[in-house]
Amino acid sequence: ATITLRQLLDHAAERGYGVPAFNINNMEQLLAIMNAARRTASPVILQASRGARAYAGDPILRRLVEGAVELYPEIPVCLHLDHGNDVDTCLSAITNGFTSVMMDGSLEADAKTPASYAHNLSVTGTVAELAHMVGVSVEGELGCLGSLESGKGEAEDGHGFEGALGRHQLLTDPVQAAEFVARTRVDALAVAMGTSHGAYKFSRRPDGDILAMDVVKAIHERLPGTHLVMHGSSSVPQELQDIINEHGGEMPQTFGVPVEEIVNGIRFGVRKINIDTDCRMAMTGQFRKVAALKRAEFDPRAFLKPAMAAMQALCEQRFEQFGTAGNA
Ligand code: G3H
Ligand code: 13P
Ligand code: NA
Ligand code: ZN
Repeated sequence: ATITLRQLLDHAAERGYGVPAFNINNMEQLLAIMNAARRTASPVILQASRGARAYAGDPILRRLVEGAVELYPEIPVCLHLDHGNDVDTCLSAITNGFTSVMMDGSLEADAKTPASYAHNLSVTGTVAELAHMVGVSVEGELGCLGSLESGKGEAEDGHGFEGALGRHQLLTDPVQAAEFVARTRVDALAVAMGTSHGAYKFSRRPDGDILAMDVVKAIHERLPGTHLVMHGSSSVPQELQDIINEHGGEMPQTFGVPVEEIVNGIRFGVRKINIDTDCRMAMTGQFRKVAALKRAEFDPRAFLKPAMAAMQALCEQRFEQFGTAGNA
């Protein structure tokens, strides 16, 4: 059955677990997540970005998810818009069957420049008011994703803003967070604590200087009843980098968010953990491997099946690690 983000995260908070939100663009990613959910009896958050909606088209995305709900009737499914950039984008998602939307008002609608707090309050409050009228949940974002190593805040295209920002400019301010949640009435709040999107998050295994989990703790102390969201939460496992690079890939050495840090975050109110990059790497490793080792192969399914299996294994691991397993 489909459920809203609020219903799912309220349950997660009651029982003290976290829920990975995996991105989908196609049937194979969807099936990998659903099979992992069935194997571990986990509720799922499927999230689609603006890029995913443009790639597959809303009518297809919607029916893919309807198909999953029919095939996996025992699994609660939330369909969430990842990084909606304006009110219209959120409303069109709602009319296309999404049960939750993210209004990312931390960036201007061009998604390339940082937004003012006033802009963020206004667009996020508007989306929450409209979405709640039709029983849809809303995630907001406050603070600036980006790197504490370089001081570069991150625009949606992954490029850094001009000029270096200080720690207090990048990280979510706990006092402002409390006001933001009270005024916008969002169901979940994405916070900035030093993570960024994509594979290249950290140049070394992160410590407290570059991954500020203390900020999550401080926000949770002010807002114990608010569901917190961690973006940029791929762990970028060494094994996945190795499979890619052993079969012709050229990914420079990089470090992601250690799973133990996320598990720590779950103790401090983190309920939704966004993961896309790890899933992409799991699939791409298998594409490269089949391409390198089975050079006469030309059936796409010979590439897609091992890719799905690798993504499923990754999803099962995260469901177990975050305590989602057994809560479907
Ligand atoms: O926020 C980023 C997610 O990984 C989605 O990426 O915009 O390339 O679909 P995308
Ligand atoms: P990763 O790039 O770390 O997987 O983050 C995904 C994300 O935050 C989607 O909103
Ligand atoms: Na999101
Ligand atoms: Zn994100």
